[in-house]
Amino acid sequence: MTAGAPLRHNSAAATTKRHHGKRPRVTDRTMQRIFSGIQPTGNLHLGNYLGAIRNWVRLQDEYECLFCVVDMHAVTTWQEPRELVANIREVTAGLLAAGLDPERNIIFNQSQVRGHAQLAWIFSCVARMGWLNRMTQFKEKAGKHRENASVGLFAYPTLMAADILLYKATHVPVGEDQKQHLELTRDIAQKFNNDFGVEFFPLVEPLIFGAATRVMSLRDGTNKMSKSDPSDYSRINMTDDADTIVVKIRKAKTDPAPLPESPAGLEDRPEAANLLGLYGALSETSLEETCQRFAGASFSDFKNEFAELSVSVLGPIQDEMRRLSADPGHVDAVLRQGAGRARDLAAPILAEIEEIVGYLRP
Ligand code: TYM
Repeated sequence: MTAGAPLRHNSAAATTKRHHGKRPRVTDRTMQRIFSGIQPTGNLHLGNYLGAIRNWVRLQDEYECLFCVVDMHAVTTWQEPRELVANIREVTAGLLAAGLDPERNIIFNQSQVRGHAQLAWIFSCVARMGWLNRMTQFKEKAGKHRENASVGLFAYPTLMAADILLYKATHVPVGEDQKQHLELTRDIAQKFNNDFGVEFFPLVEPLIFGAATRVMSLRDGTNKMSKSDPSDYSRINMTDDADTIVVKIRKAKTDPAPLPESPAGLEDRPEAANLLGLYGALSETSLEETCQRFAGASFSDFKNEFAELSVSVLGPIQDEMRRLSADPGHVDAVLRQGAGRARDLAAPILAEIEEIVGYLRP
Protein backbone atom coordinates (compact mmCIF):
# COMPACT_ATOMS: atom_id res chain seq x y z
CA MET A 1 0.00 0.00 0.00
CA THR A 2 1.37 3.42 -0.82
CA ALA A 3 0.83 6.66 1.05
CA GLY A 4 -2.76 7.78 0.68
CA ALA A 5 -4.09 4.44 -0.57
CA PRO A 6 -7.34 3.35 1.02
CA LEU A 7 -7.27 1.13 4.06
CA ARG A 8 -8.35 -2.44 3.62
CA HIS A 9 -10.10 -3.87 6.63
CA ASN A 10 -10.36 -7.38 5.32
CA SER A 11 -10.63 -10.28 7.68
CA ALA A 12 -7.42 -11.91 6.46
CA ALA A 13 -5.51 -8.81 7.42
CA ALA A 14 -6.97 -8.73 10.86
CA THR A 15 -7.53 -12.23 12.11
CA THR A 16 -8.71 -12.45 15.67
CA LYS A 17 -7.54 -15.47 17.60
CA ARG A 18 -10.27 -16.77 19.85
CA HIS A 19 -9.43 -18.99 22.76
CA HIS A 20 -12.15 -20.41 24.90
CA GLY A 21 -9.97 -22.57 27.13
CA LYS A 22 -8.25 -21.33 30.23
CA ARG A 23 -4.93 -20.78 28.60
CA PRO A 24 -4.45 -19.12 25.23
CA ARG A 25 -2.42 -20.93 22.65
CA VAL A 26 0.07 -18.87 20.76
CA THR A 27 1.54 -21.21 18.22
CA ASP A 28 5.20 -20.31 17.96
CA ARG A 29 6.52 -19.53 21.42
CA THR A 30 9.80 -18.16 20.16
CA MET A 31 9.71 -14.54 19.02
CA GLN A 32 6.49 -13.87 20.93
CA ARG A 33 6.16 -10.69 22.88
CA ILE A 34 2.98 -9.62 24.58
CA PHE A 35 1.92 -6.02 25.17
CA SER A 36 -1.27 -4.72 26.67
CA GLY A 37 -2.47 -1.54 28.29
CA ILE A 38 -5.11 -0.19 30.62
CA GLN A 39 -6.26 3.39 31.21
CA PRO A 40 -6.04 4.93 34.67
CA THR A 41 -9.28 6.86 34.22
CA GLY A 42 -11.29 5.67 37.19
CA ASN A 43 -12.26 2.50 38.92
CA LEU A 44 -11.18 -0.84 37.54
CA HIS A 45 -14.29 -2.94 37.03
CA LEU A 46 -15.25 -6.55 36.47
CA GLY A 47 -15.04 -6.06 32.68
CA ASN A 48 -11.39 -5.00 32.96
CA TYR A 49 -10.69 -7.91 35.27
CA LEU A 50 -12.39 -10.68 33.30
CA GLY A 51 -11.80 -9.23 29.83
CA ALA A 52 -8.15 -8.39 30.36
CA ILE A 53 -6.31 -8.55 33.68
CA ARG A 54 -7.14 -12.15 34.59
CA ASN A 55 -5.95 -13.25 31.16
CA TRP A 56 -2.72 -11.28 31.55
CA VAL A 57 -2.03 -13.14 34.79
CA ARG A 58 -2.28 -16.41 32.90
CA LEU A 59 -0.05 -15.28 30.06
CA GLN A 60 2.79 -14.23 32.34
CA ASP A 61 3.75 -17.86 32.99
CA GLU A 62 4.65 -18.48 29.39
CA TYR A 63 5.47 -15.28 27.55
CA GLU A 64 7.56 -12.18 27.76
CA CYS A 65 4.99 -9.56 28.70
CA LEU A 66 4.76 -5.79 29.01
CA PHE A 67 1.77 -4.33 30.83
CA CYS A 68 1.32 -0.60 30.63
CA VAL A 69 -0.78 1.86 32.60
CA VAL A 70 -1.56 4.21 29.73
CA ASP A 71 -1.64 7.64 31.36
CA MET A 72 -0.98 9.38 28.02
CA HIS A 73 -4.17 7.85 26.65
CA ALA A 74 -6.03 8.94 29.78
CA VAL A 75 -5.31 12.63 29.15
CA THR A 76 -7.06 12.55 25.78
CA THR A 77 -10.07 13.47 27.94
CA TRP A 78 -9.83 15.83 30.92
CA GLN A 79 -8.25 14.31 34.02
CA GLU A 80 -7.90 16.18 37.30
CA PRO A 81 -4.10 16.01 37.81
CA ARG A 82 -4.25 14.85 41.42
CA GLU A 83 -6.81 12.19 40.61
CA LEU A 84 -4.74 11.00 37.68
CA VAL A 85 -1.71 10.41 39.90
CA ALA A 86 -3.89 8.51 42.39
CA ASN A 87 -5.50 6.47 39.62
CA ILE A 88 -2.16 5.47 38.12
CA ARG A 89 -1.13 4.10 41.51
CA GLU A 90 -4.48 2.44 42.08
CA VAL A 91 -4.57 0.69 38.72
CA THR A 92 -0.99 -0.49 39.23
CA ALA A 93 -1.95 -1.80 42.67
CA GLY A 94 -4.87 -3.61 41.01
CA LEU A 95 -2.58 -5.30 38.50
CA LEU A 96 -0.19 -6.43 41.22
CA ALA A 97 -3.00 -7.53 43.52
CA ALA A 98 -4.56 -9.60 40.73
CA GLY A 99 -1.31 -11.54 40.52
CA LEU A 100 0.98 -9.88 37.98
CA ASP A 101 4.58 -10.34 39.00
CA PRO A 102 6.72 -7.22 38.45
CA GLU A 103 9.86 -9.33 38.16
CA ARG A 104 8.64 -11.62 35.40
CA ASN A 105 6.74 -8.86 33.57
CA ILE A 106 7.55 -5.30 32.69
CA ILE A 107 4.91 -3.19 34.45
CA PHE A 108 5.16 0.56 33.89
CA ASN A 109 3.30 3.75 33.11
CA GLN A 110 3.43 5.02 29.57
CA SER A 111 4.53 8.62 30.15
CA GLN A 112 7.79 7.43 31.71
CA VAL A 113 8.94 6.05 28.36
CA ARG A 114 9.25 8.93 25.91
CA GLY A 115 9.51 6.59 22.94
CA HIS A 116 5.71 6.14 22.98
CA ALA A 117 5.20 9.81 22.10
CA GLN A 118 8.05 9.82 19.57
CA LEU A 119 6.76 6.82 17.67
CA ALA A 120 3.16 8.04 17.91
CA TRP A 121 4.19 11.14 15.97
CA ILE A 122 5.71 9.04 13.19
CA PHE A 123 2.55 6.91 13.10
CA SER A 124 0.38 10.05 12.97
CA CYS A 125 2.15 10.74 9.70
CA VAL A 126 1.66 7.17 8.44
CA ALA A 127 -2.02 6.76 9.37
CA ARG A 128 -4.65 8.47 7.19
CA MET A 129 -7.43 10.76 8.41
CA GLY A 130 -9.96 8.49 6.72
CA TRP A 131 -8.79 5.50 8.77
CA LEU A 132 -9.17 7.36 12.06
CA ASN A 133 -12.53 8.76 10.97
CA ARG A 134 -13.88 5.21 10.95
CA MET A 135 -12.97 4.41 14.56
CA THR A 136 -16.17 3.64 16.42
CA GLN A 137 -14.63 4.34 19.83
CA PHE A 138 -13.87 7.93 18.80
CA LYS A 139 -17.42 8.35 17.57
CA GLU A 140 -18.79 6.97 20.85
CA LYS A 141 -16.50 9.04 23.06
CA ALA A 142 -16.75 12.29 21.10
CA GLY A 143 -20.52 11.87 20.66
CA LYS A 144 -22.29 14.96 19.43
CA HIS A 145 -19.40 17.21 20.47
CA ARG A 146 -16.98 16.04 17.83
CA GLU A 147 -15.68 19.51 17.05
CA ASN A 148 -14.88 19.97 20.70
CA ALA A 149 -13.04 16.65 21.17
CA SER A 150 -9.28 16.86 21.67
CA VAL A 151 -6.97 16.17 18.75
CA GLY A 152 -5.42 13.55 21.05
CA LEU A 153 -8.72 11.67 21.30
CA PHE A 154 -8.93 11.53 17.50
CA ALA A 155 -5.30 10.39 17.15
CA TYR A 156 -5.63 7.94 20.07
CA PRO A 157 -5.26 4.78 17.90
CA THR A 158 -1.92 5.97 16.51
CA LEU A 159 -0.56 6.20 20.06
CA MET A 160 -1.95 2.75 20.76
CA ALA A 161 -0.15 1.38 17.69
CA ALA A 162 3.03 3.05 18.95
CA ASP A 163 2.63 1.42 22.39
CA ILE A 164 2.63 -2.01 20.83
CA LEU A 165 5.11 -1.56 18.00
CA LEU A 166 7.71 0.33 20.04
CA TYR A 167 8.51 -3.11 21.43
CA LYS A 168 7.67 -5.03 18.26
CA ALA A 169 5.08 -6.92 20.29
CA THR A 170 3.39 -9.72 18.39
CA HIS A 171 0.32 -10.47 20.53
CA VAL A 172 -2.09 -8.18 22.33
CA PRO A 173 -4.57 -9.60 24.85
CA VAL A 174 -7.66 -7.35 25.04
CA GLY A 175 -11.44 -7.39 25.32
CA GLU A 176 -13.62 -7.24 22.18
CA ASP A 177 -13.92 -3.44 22.31
CA GLN A 178 -10.27 -2.99 21.31
CA LYS A 179 -10.42 -5.15 18.19
CA GLN A 180 -10.85 -2.29 15.75
CA HIS A 181 -7.87 -0.43 17.20
CA LEU A 182 -5.74 -3.51 16.72
CA GLU A 183 -6.83 -3.84 13.12
CA LEU A 184 -5.65 -0.27 12.65
CA THR A 185 -2.34 -1.13 14.31
CA ARG A 186 -1.85 -3.84 11.70
CA ASP A 187 -2.67 -1.40 8.92
CA ILE A 188 -0.21 1.16 10.25
CA ALA A 189 2.52 -1.49 10.55
CA GLN A 190 1.83 -2.70 7.03
CA LYS A 191 1.79 0.79 5.54
CA PHE A 192 5.03 1.74 7.32
CA ASN A 193 6.68 -1.43 5.98
CA ASN A 194 5.40 -0.76 2.47
CA ASP A 195 6.15 2.97 2.40
CA PHE A 196 9.73 2.50 3.53
CA GLY A 197 10.27 -0.81 1.73
CA VAL A 198 11.18 -2.71 4.88
CA GLU A 199 10.04 -5.83 6.71
CA PHE A 200 10.30 -4.14 10.05
CA PHE A 201 7.09 -4.30 12.05
CA PRO A 202 5.30 -7.55 12.81
CA LEU A 203 1.55 -7.76 12.15
CA VAL A 204 0.14 -8.03 15.65
CA GLU A 205 -2.46 -10.60 16.59
CA PRO A 206 -5.25 -9.71 19.00
CA LEU A 207 -5.71 -12.33 21.71
CA ILE A 208 -9.37 -12.24 22.64
CA PHE A 209 -10.00 -15.18 24.88
CA GLY A 210 -11.79 -16.35 27.95
CA ALA A 211 -15.50 -16.37 28.61
CA ALA A 212 -15.93 -12.63 29.20
CA THR A 213 -14.63 -10.79 26.17
CA ARG A 214 -17.50 -8.29 26.39
CA VAL A 215 -18.94 -7.79 29.85
CA MET A 216 -22.15 -5.78 29.77
CA SER A 217 -23.65 -3.19 32.12
CA LEU A 218 -25.69 -4.44 35.08
CA ARG A 219 -28.36 -1.85 34.20
CA ASP A 220 -28.62 -2.60 30.49
CA GLY A 221 -27.46 -5.88 28.97
CA THR A 222 -26.98 -4.25 25.58
CA ASN A 223 -24.41 -1.70 26.80
CA LYS A 224 -20.78 -2.43 27.63
CA MET A 225 -19.74 -2.26 31.30
CA SER A 226 -17.58 0.84 31.36
CA LYS A 227 -15.77 3.27 33.66
CA SER A 228 -17.46 6.15 31.93
CA ASP A 229 -21.06 5.04 32.59
CA PRO A 230 -22.50 7.74 34.87
CA SER A 231 -24.33 5.13 36.97
CA ASP A 232 -22.08 3.32 39.45
CA TYR A 233 -24.79 0.64 39.64
CA SER A 234 -23.93 -0.33 36.06
CA ARG A 235 -20.65 -1.94 37.10
CA ILE A 236 -18.94 -3.91 39.85
CA ASN A 237 -15.75 -2.08 40.70
CA MET A 238 -12.75 -4.04 41.85
CA THR A 239 -12.72 -1.83 44.94
CA ASP A 240 -16.40 -2.29 45.89
CA ASP A 241 -16.85 -3.81 49.33
CA ALA A 242 -18.98 -6.90 49.89
CA ASP A 243 -22.13 -4.96 50.84
CA THR A 244 -21.90 -2.76 47.76
CA ILE A 245 -21.44 -5.79 45.50
CA VAL A 246 -24.50 -7.48 47.04
CA VAL A 247 -26.63 -4.34 46.56
CA LYS A 248 -25.48 -3.80 42.97
CA ILE A 249 -26.22 -7.39 42.04
CA ARG A 250 -29.60 -7.27 43.78
CA LYS A 251 -30.47 -4.16 41.76
CA ALA A 252 -29.14 -5.57 38.46
CA LYS A 253 -31.74 -5.51 35.69
CA THR A 254 -33.39 -8.85 34.88
CA ASP A 255 -36.45 -10.09 33.04
CA PRO A 256 -39.55 -11.89 34.36
CA ALA A 257 -38.81 -15.42 33.07
CA PRO A 258 -37.04 -18.12 35.12
CA LEU A 259 -33.50 -19.05 34.11
CA PRO A 260 -33.20 -21.32 31.06
CA GLU A 261 -31.68 -24.80 31.00
CA SER A 262 -29.36 -24.08 28.05
CA PRO A 263 -27.65 -21.14 26.32
CA ALA A 264 -30.25 -21.34 23.52
CA GLY A 265 -32.81 -20.02 26.01
CA LEU A 266 -30.77 -16.84 26.49
CA GLU A 267 -31.57 -15.48 23.06
CA ASP A 268 -33.17 -12.02 23.30
CA ARG A 269 -32.48 -12.00 27.04
CA PRO A 270 -29.37 -9.78 27.18
CA GLU A 271 -29.42 -9.24 30.95
CA ALA A 272 -29.83 -12.94 31.75
CA ALA A 273 -27.10 -13.80 29.23
CA ASN A 274 -24.74 -11.27 30.79
CA LEU A 275 -25.34 -12.35 34.39
CA LEU A 276 -25.05 -16.07 33.65
CA GLY A 277 -21.98 -15.39 31.49
CA LEU A 278 -20.40 -13.47 34.36
CA TYR A 279 -21.17 -16.27 36.78
CA GLY A 280 -19.59 -18.78 34.38
CA ALA A 281 -16.51 -16.60 33.89
CA LEU A 282 -16.04 -16.08 37.63
CA SER A 283 -16.56 -19.74 38.49
CA GLU A 284 -14.58 -20.86 35.42
CA THR A 285 -17.39 -23.10 34.21
CA SER A 286 -18.93 -23.11 30.76
CA LEU A 287 -22.17 -21.31 29.99
CA GLU A 288 -23.82 -24.71 29.37
CA GLU A 289 -22.91 -25.90 32.85
CA THR A 290 -23.97 -22.62 34.41
CA CYS A 291 -27.36 -22.83 32.68
CA GLN A 292 -27.83 -26.43 33.80
CA ARG A 293 -26.98 -25.50 37.35
CA PHE A 294 -29.57 -22.70 37.54
CA ALA A 295 -32.19 -24.18 35.18
CA GLY A 296 -35.65 -23.03 36.30
CA ALA A 297 -34.29 -20.97 39.22
CA SER A 298 -35.53 -17.49 40.00
CA PHE A 299 -33.23 -14.51 39.51
CA SER A 300 -33.28 -13.79 43.24
CA ASP A 301 -31.84 -17.23 44.13
CA PHE A 302 -29.30 -16.94 41.34
CA LYS A 303 -28.32 -13.44 42.44
CA ASN A 304 -27.56 -14.59 45.99
CA GLU A 305 -25.10 -17.16 44.67
CA PHE A 306 -23.68 -14.75 42.12
CA ALA A 307 -23.03 -12.12 44.78
CA GLU A 308 -21.37 -14.66 47.06
CA LEU A 309 -19.13 -15.81 44.22
CA SER A 310 -18.18 -12.25 43.21
CA VAL A 311 -17.23 -11.38 46.78
CA SER A 312 -15.16 -14.55 47.13
CA VAL A 313 -13.22 -13.84 43.90
CA LEU A 314 -12.73 -10.10 44.39
CA GLY A 315 -12.25 -10.11 48.20
CA PRO A 316 -8.63 -11.35 48.29
CA ILE A 317 -7.67 -9.00 45.43
CA GLN A 318 -9.19 -6.07 47.30
CA ASP A 319 -7.33 -6.96 50.51
CA GLU A 320 -4.07 -6.92 48.59
CA MET A 321 -5.00 -3.66 46.82
CA ARG A 322 -5.62 -2.04 50.20
CA ARG A 323 -2.27 -3.27 51.46
CA LEU A 324 -0.50 -1.89 48.38
CA SER A 325 -2.38 1.42 48.53
CA ALA A 326 -0.88 1.97 51.95
CA ASP A 327 2.57 1.65 50.39
CA PRO A 328 2.70 4.04 47.39
CA GLY A 329 6.51 4.02 47.59
CA HIS A 330 6.50 0.36 46.60
CA VAL A 331 4.07 0.91 43.73
CA ASP A 332 6.15 3.84 42.45
CA ALA A 333 9.31 1.73 42.64
CA VAL A 334 7.65 -1.03 40.58
CA LEU A 335 6.71 1.52 37.91
CA ARG A 336 10.13 3.15 37.92
CA GLN A 337 11.92 -0.17 37.56
CA GLY A 338 9.46 -1.30 34.86
CA ALA A 339 9.94 1.94 32.91
CA GLY A 340 13.71 1.48 32.99
CA ARG A 341 13.38 -2.01 31.54
CA ALA A 342 10.88 -0.81 28.93
CA ARG A 343 13.20 2.03 27.87
CA ASP A 344 16.08 -0.43 27.44
CA LEU A 345 13.93 -2.64 25.25
CA ALA A 346 12.58 0.24 23.18
CA ALA A 347 15.80 2.21 22.63
CA PRO A 348 17.41 0.08 19.88
CA ILE A 349 14.06 -0.42 18.14
CA LEU A 350 13.32 3.30 18.11
CA ALA A 351 16.85 4.07 16.88
CA GLU A 352 16.28 1.73 13.94
CA ILE A 353 12.88 3.24 13.18
CA GLU A 354 14.34 6.75 13.16
CA GLU A 355 17.09 5.63 10.83
CA ILE A 356 14.52 4.06 8.48
CA VAL A 357 12.52 7.30 8.51
CA GLY A 358 15.66 9.30 7.71
CA TYR A 359 16.11 11.41 10.84
CA LEU A 360 19.66 12.69 11.01
CA ARG A 361 21.54 11.63 14.17
CA PRO A 362 25.00 13.09 13.70
P1 TYM B 1 -9.36 0.20 28.72
O1 TYM B 1 -8.58 0.90 29.78
O2 TYM B 1 -10.69 0.76 28.32
O3 TYM B 1 -9.61 -1.30 29.15
C1 TYM B 1 -8.55 -2.15 29.56
C2 TYM B 1 -8.84 -3.57 29.10
O4 TYM B 1 -10.09 -4.02 29.63
C3 TYM B 1 -10.91 -4.49 28.55
N1 TYM B 1 -12.31 -4.15 28.85
C4 TYM B 1 -13.31 -5.03 28.79
N2 TYM B 1 -13.33 -6.35 28.50
C5 TYM B 1 -14.54 -6.98 28.55
N3 TYM B 1 -15.70 -6.34 28.86
C6 TYM B 1 -15.73 -5.01 29.14
N4 TYM B 1 -16.88 -4.41 29.47
C7 TYM B 1 -14.50 -4.30 29.12
N5 TYM B 1 -14.15 -3.01 29.35
C8 TYM B 1 -12.81 -2.93 29.17
C9 TYM B 1 -10.42 -3.73 27.33
O5 TYM B 1 -10.74 -4.42 26.13
C10 TYM B 1 -8.93 -3.68 27.58
O6 TYM B 1 -8.31 -4.89 27.16
N6 TYM B 1 -7.18 1.57 24.42
C11 TYM B 1 -7.08 0.67 25.55
C12 TYM B 1 -5.78 0.77 26.32
C13 TYM B 1 -4.54 0.62 25.49
C14 TYM B 1 -4.03 -0.57 24.94
C15 TYM B 1 -2.82 -0.21 24.28
C16 TYM B 1 -4.47 -1.90 24.96
C17 TYM B 1 -3.69 1.64 25.17
N7 TYM B 1 -2.65 1.12 24.44
C18 TYM B 1 -2.06 -1.15 23.62
C19 TYM B 1 -3.70 -2.83 24.26
C20 TYM B 1 -2.51 -2.46 23.62
C21 TYM B 1 -8.21 0.98 26.52
O7 TYM B 1 -8.75 2.05 26.51
O8 TYM B 1 -8.46 -0.02 27.42
